[in-house]
Amino acid sequence: MVKHGDKTSELQFEKRENLLKVLHKNGIFITAYCGGKGICKKCIVRFIDNPPKAFELERRALKEKVDQGYRLACLHRLERDATVKIQEVKPVFANIEAEPCCDNDKPHIAIDIGTTTIAIAYIEKGKIEKTLNILNPQIAFGSDVISRIAYSNEGYFKVLHSIIEDTIKKLISHFKKSVLMIVCANPTMLSFFLGFNPKSIGEYPYMPPFKGSFTGEFDGIELYVPPIISAFVGSDITAALSILPEDEDFLFVDIGTNCEFILKVGSKYYSSSIPAGPALEGADIDYGSIAQDGAIYKVSLKNGFEVYTLNNKKPIGIAGSGLVSAISLLRKYGVIDKNGRMVEAWEVEAPFSLINRLKKDGFMLTDGIYLTQNSVRNFQLVKASLNAGIELLLDKVGLKKPKKIFIGGGFSKSLTKEDVISSGLLSFDCEFVMLGNSSIKGGVRLFCKKERDRVEKVAKEIEYVEIANEKKFEELYIKSMSFYV
Ligand code: FES
Repeated sequence: MVKHGDKTSELQFEKRENLLKVLHKNGIFITAYCGGKGICKKCIVRFIDNPPKAFELERRALKEKVDQGYRLACLHRLERDATVKIQEVKPVFANIEAEPCCDNDKPHIAIDIGTTTIAIAYIEKGKIEKTLNILNPQIAFGSDVISRIAYSNEGYFKVLHSIIEDTIKKLISHFKKSVLMIVCANPTMLSFFLGFNPKSIGEYPYMPPFKGSFTGEFDGIELYVPPIISAFVGSDITAALSILPEDEDFLFVDIGTNCEFILKVGSKYYSSSIPAGPALEGADIDYGSIAQDGAIYKVSLKNGFEVYTLNNKKPIGIAGSGLVSAISLLRKYGVIDKNGRMVEAWEVEAPFSLINRLKKDGFMLTDGIYLTQNSVRNFQLVKASLNAGIELLLDKVGLKKPKKIFIGGGFSKSLTKEDVISSGLLSFDCEFVMLGNSSIKGGVRLFCKKERDRVEKVAKEIEYVEIANEKKFEELYIKSMSFYV
């Protein structure tokens, strides 16, 4: 028996079947960032009766809650009937600021299907009338595209396809019938949405099921998908071309679990991508959270130590930008040293309001939420990947540093240049522009045929540069692990 919200469902299962898989098979989705590997510790359920014996890992992660029946769903095989209480993945609503590019007065919809969140903008009479953001319910199958593909390969392709299809249908039913729908996403999310099996993206030589743009129809609405360039550079990146300058050189970095780059040098465009891990999506870090109400997105030391949470709600965890902001502050005062070690209180001369927060579990951001040494280490892996990837891409086209960096990804809108530099997220001293969700912002500009044609033309000229498998990448990655400033 499964209790979720006000509902109770009776589920059938085979003896020794994995609980997380039983839930998924029955269309009940709980958060499972690591896709059932026992790493993220987010798939928490509560056994009301017959709790299985807890593992040591659960005792450490859930502490006294273990005695109240709390367990990690992915770790348990069901031996006998039980009643389990779960928290289903729920929608999160938020605002999106974007500028349509022409005053076409017909209703349109732009959608960004991110691996973590889905954003929708409804445009009428050349104005954004309504926007919403929800958690991608596929998060129940892992936080990154590789976990989702692995699940799909285990026989869950149809489930993953229909989750996205049904979610988008439900979302667009909130708006008036539109004449055109623009869908921006990475190639894996697009494959699930369009019903193409993404298997080839997850194995060598890493190919998307199709390249270029896609036109068709979805739920009676004309559909346009901006071009896909490679297995990891999709329509979320080419849509962003619509908000990037045509007349100056730049580096565009879309930061997520996978990071994609577009580098413009004169009339030439290059693109590349690098896996970075989900720490900046709030997964893979202790006390991490996706960007939802109560997620810590910033810290400051202006009037003593303060944390800022989304929509000013009670803190529930650390979002990606909160992680960058906290590391930036602690690096500035030497509380985290050049190697990423969180120092002991006696080793550093820093304001008392910081020193005071150094506890056994890490740096206390607020009651019960810590920036741990483990989270700093996971952040170092992201920054190492990102900086090494960029350095190698620049090197390949004969550049030392970019003139200007545009940072995309929802989390970037809360960042400052200081956060980026002193946390070491990017170690290039140049001009920075924080774009926020560049995929949806670009998507809403593509209702103009002229703009779509321009983006298609540029996308055809982009040269994809392979960097992740280069020997030099490893060398740069190790060098980029420590903090330079
Ligand atoms: S620990 Fe269970 S899904 Fe991550």
